[in-house]
Amino acid sequence: MKDPVLFDRFAQDILESAVFAQCRCFMQHGRISVYAHSLSVAQMSFRLAEGIPGLDLRSLVRAALLHDFFLYDWHVPEKMWSLHGWTHPVTAAENARTYFQVSDKEYSLIRTHMWPYTLLHPPVYREGWIICAADKACSAIETLFRR
Ligand SMILES: [Fe+2]
Ligand SMILES: [Fe+2]
Repeated sequence: MKDPVLFDRFAQDILESAVFAQCRCFMQHGRISVYAHSLSVAQMSFRLAEGIPGLDLRSLVRAALLHDFFLYDWHVPEKMWSLHGWTHPVTAAENARTYFQVSDKEYSLIRTHMWPYTLLHPPVYREGWIICAADKACSAIETLFRR
């Protein structure tokens, strides 16, 4: 990461909030919490975006941190058999709007991060494609190597 100070400036209030800290209590992949996964996705997204001129790095970092801000354990049977994969982007976006007053653009970045799983909702911003790719890469690494 070329500019960790800039990353921290965009991320700090979210990372230090009590409500986001709840993500430490929910597991995402194996022993990786939603908090750790979300931080990894935000850091990878920022690293990928740093070299591309004209990107909105603030929205990218904040949306990446909040992309899985659904605030429940999706491994319990009633969630496993629900449509979590399809519905959590909306839940996360709504929670982000409630707790962090995200912009419409940041809402969209969160809403579209599961594409192509959510086939009818592809990213509409360049930042969204980066978050989408970083999420897949981090998820693959966590699932394959860090159980
Ligand atoms: Fe997700
Ligand atoms: Fe994710």
